[in-house]
Amino acid sequence: MPYPQMRPRRLRRTAAMRRLVSETRVDPAELVVPMFVKEGLTEPRPISSLPGMVQHSRDSLRKAAVEAVQAGVGGIMLFGVPSSRDAHGSGGIDPNGILNVAIRDVVAEVGDATVVMSDLCLDEFTSHGHCGLLTPDGEVDNDATLAAYAEMAVAQAAAGVGVVGPSGMMDGQVGVTRRALDAAGYPDVAVLAYAVKYASAFYGPFREAVESALEGDRRTYQQDPANLRESLREVELDVAEGADMVMVKPGLPYLDVVSAVRAAVDVPVAAYQVSGEYAMIEAAAANGWIDRERAMLESLTSLRRAGAQIILTYWAVEAAQLLRHRY
Ligand code: PBG
Repeated sequence: MPYPQMRPRRLRRTAAMRRLVSETRVDPAELVVPMFVKEGLTEPRPISSLPGMVQHSRDSLRKAAVEAVQAGVGGIMLFGVPSSRDAHGSGGIDPNGILNVAIRDVVAEVGDATVVMSDLCLDEFTSHGHCGLLTPDGEVDNDATLAAYAEMAVAQAAAGVGVVGPSGMMDGQVGVTRRALDAAGYPDVAVLAYAVKYASAFYGPFREAVESALEGDRRTYQQDPANLRESLREVELDVAEGADMVMVKPGLPYLDVVSAVRAAVDVPVAAYQVSGEYAMIEAAAANGWIDRERAMLESLTSLRRAGAQIILTYWAVEAAQLLRHRY
């Protein structure tokens, strides 16, 4: 052929043309911002491995929640950092534990203007840093942990949360959570299941953010990064147990998993762009090696394109502000 038969470049010529034919848009309403609140702080404290992110005081959390609502984010996922921990993680169940207090604060501040969510897991509250209770031999005891999650779910619901996010990867955690919420009179509290959660190196900065006490790793309950079919099984179980939404975590290194999960279920699929994903781009940008804003938006677009309808990202507020003026 003497000349190209087809010219795909025609549809790339101008910004207006590219906008017209764009297949994927990131909408602020589908972004969820994780926030950390630390018991006893009077001022927010920066998290060095998550540049721009802080451990909030109760006061600064309320202000940040308002700012997030003004930016138009779809939700806020709350994590609590207690000032003391015990083997049972009882601070997660205590109505006056920092996470439950923070839920009440944020709900009082923003009401239904965004979706308030909470991490349903013991790792921030246990002295050993595991997501569950331990047997005398130091194994994570699945079924004893389920009973604690049930109590924690009810405490979070009583504090006014809209969505709980069981993230501990115990077998049966979604079913137990659903039943406990229903039995306690909270049938309207939704479950965002961390259905697919890999034992990932990309959680590093999060461990600083919550001052994790963990020694060792979580490989007996979180998934092997080598496995995809196992994720479909996890998702199937969680949907059968009553998950309203399912999540894949981490995000960018697992786009094939996001895409397979999207194809397998008809509930909303979320992806968690985790702390290490954020930190990598921030660090490269701080060195002048990468265009920070473009890398941020490209990574979010990729998660959407792979099939994540909802994205948890530490950039949610900033990205929402940028995107509002984009389309
Ligand atoms: C467990 C939990 C973790 C993250 C979210 N929920 C840590 C872990 O499993 O070790 C990680 C999130 C991130 O890295 O941004 N409660």
